[in-house]
Amino acid sequence: MSRILTGIQSSGKPHLGNLLGAIIPAIKLSQDPKNESFFFIADLHSLTTIKDAEVRKENVNAVAAAWLAFGFDTDKNLFYRQSMVPQVTELNWYMSCYTPFPMLANAHSFKDKSDRLADVNAGLFTYPVLMACDIILYDADIVPVGKDQKQHLEMTRDIASGFNHRYGEVFVLPEARIDEQIMTIPGTDGQKMSKSYGNTIDIFQTDKKLRKNVMQIITDSTPMEEPKNPDNCNVFNIYKLLASEEQIAEMRKNYEGGNYGYGHAKQALYELIVEKYSKERELYNHYMENIDELHKKLEKGEEKAAEIASKTLGRVRKVLGF
Ligand code: TRP
Repeated sequence: MSRILTGIQSSGKPHLGNLLGAIIPAIKLSQDPKNESFFFIADLHSLTTIKDAEVRKENVNAVAAAWLAFGFDTDKNLFYRQSMVPQVTELNWYMSCYTPFPMLANAHSFKDKSDRLADVNAGLFTYPVLMACDIILYDADIVPVGKDQKQHLEMTRDIASGFNHRYGEVFVLPEARIDEQIMTIPGTDGQKMSKSYGNTIDIFQTDKKLRKNVMQIITDSTPMEEPKNPDNCNVFNIYKLLASEEQIAEMRKNYEGGNYGYGHAKQALYELIVEKYSKERELYNHYMENIDELHKKLEKGEEKAAEIASKTLGRVRKVLGF
């Protein structure tokens, strides 16, 4: 049994790129009976940037609702809010006393902002320590993350092994699992789909808004009658990530045959999303309208997480003489 653990940023309602690139693959990984998954919403980390309580709460709920809607099984796995297991902040203090300043000063996540130091708060600077604590508090074996988190995982291992070196085997050393070929999902303008580019497709909005969103995909001006190259088309490139082999082949034929406009392709993509994700969209709305039910599922995970966290903290306090 491997314990898989990962933190989910709570930066807002997940879009199609988040779903296809991260959420659906992570849920698949969690369905392997050899794994036990700990997935948590990193809402303490989000405080480094998001100061508005209502915004943060809404973001956390939206993220949780999306994971549940896509079938994350909270009976078999742990799903929790980082802030609801505050043991991590105690460990954060201990570990920060074992983290050399230059290690943090070298972190990409900090260095990228070092030209605007006035905007950097201490929480942002020590972000990697809290992240290390997220992982070692739960004896995680494997941490699936994107390439951009590789350095944070190396720091986690350094912090944990330095501590173990001094005090014995207190922490499990986690392995990063970096998915190199993680799909980049194109957005409505063909660039990587990202909230910061304003090119996302939000599948959790009403039909009408979703249709409008799909119609915003940028296409060239080839007239309706003319044959088109599907491989250069943003609509087709999104369509093929969702459709079956037969649907893709048929769509390719439509493009190449002419007399098929981009409007038709967009309508087909819209209909495919509505059909493919009807259950998930309904469940998402259900959770967002029944926040108590959503929170109950999280609380179950938080209770179990707290038990494990307290055990680890016990080991740490003991070796530190507290
Ligand atoms: N820093 C991670 C990100 O930006 C989120 C995160 C916080 C995390 N704590 C973690 C990921 C622990 C893995 C393990 O995506």
